[in-house]
Amino acid sequence: MTDELKPIPLFNLKEQHDSLKQEINAAATEALNSMHWLLGPQTEQFEAEFAKTIGVKHCITCSSGASAIQIALKAAGIGEGDEVITTPFTFIATTSSVSLTGAKFVFADIDPVTYNIDVADVERKITKNTKAILPVHLYGYPANMDAIMHLANEHGLKVIEDCAQAHLATADGVMVGGIGDAGCFSFYPSKNLGACGDAGCITTNDDEIAARCRSLRHSGRALGKAYEYDLEGSTLRMDEIQAAILRVKLPHLAEWTEKRRKAAAWYAEGLAGVPVVLPPTPPAGYSQSYYVYTIRCEHRDELQAYLKEHGIGSAVYYPVPLYKQPAYKHLGFKATDYPQAEKAAKEVLSIPMFPEITEEQVARVCDTIREFYEKK
Ligand SMILES: Cc1ncc(COP(=O)(O)O)c(C=O)c1O
Repeated sequence: MTDELKPIPLFNLKEQHDSLKQEINAAATEALNSMHWLLGPQTEQFEAEFAKTIGVKHCITCSSGASAIQIALKAAGIGEGDEVITTPFTFIATTSSVSLTGAKFVFADIDPVTYNIDVADVERKITKNTKAILPVHLYGYPANMDAIMHLANEHGLKVIEDCAQAHLATADGVMVGGIGDAGCFSFYPSKNLGACGDAGCITTNDDEIAARCRSLRHSGRALGKAYEYDLEGSTLRMDEIQAAILRVKLPHLAEWTEKRRKAAAWYAEGLAGVPVVLPPTPPAGYSQSYYVYTIRCEHRDELQAYLKEHGIGSAVYYPVPLYKQPAYKHLGFKATDYPQAEKAAKEVLSIPMFPEITEEQVARVCDTIREFYEKK
């Protein structure tokens, strides 16, 4: 197979891992040999470095993005009897984490342009039990934080941001994760900053929320006490090896994000005149991190099959909105209440995006998509 006909994957974790392999192996070995495997110096230093990167006072690492959301909600005082408004067009960890606090999630429909939560619909869903809004910065495109914060302030609601897909994205000139009461990041391997296993963190400027997060991830321990518990937490810590690995990768995150943005610009050029809808252009002060590059298109499933035939990876995030998931059947949601999420689920397609993608690879993806529509 010639170089130009090599398959183009949706993500390419191997190339990035190979480029840092020696440093990663050395850092992991050092953490292993330190015999300090949990909540040690690597974790402490990574927390300080990530907090600085996001521009917040506190970063509290934990076992995953899902546990970050659960911990942050609990730390913000959300629990039994409370309602949390969120989007149905997301990964199930967003809502399962709400349920794990004992609170109830309530769906608002999405904005058809950004795929993020529709703030007007959030407002309609507010009841006397609503305690928080949980926006997801889907695909790395920031939710409308200006309007969300305004609404939350008006109604006295907490805002917990799901930043799992949006490391270094900004809204109103501020990095996501530093706008609401807390931000929740995933370091799942495929994420813009990925560990070699599961990991996540909470970011916040609120001292009390930070202290509660530290306790909740560590079985609810009172600060500095081994067997005294202020809260009922769980075993949700991140380990030192992951912290050491993330510390090797973090200095590259800004450059990797710029490369993603460059690739997005190549896509915009290469797909000009092709009948697909490109990701939206963020308004001033907003920037996206392109966790994935998602187009909206007709004949989506046929296009996906055509790309596959031509060795090009793609994926649908998400083909089945959460209100239709078997896990939530008992909750009796009606798909007709979420027309925009319903439509997006049938039309979106994410095409190859990773920092190492070349201009030639992007051109080949664009040409293949163009060719598909020319044959239609
Ligand atoms: C939007 C969103 N929220 C939450 C999560 C959960 O993160 P994790 O897989 O680290 O638990 C993910 C990860 O896939 C995600 O994409």
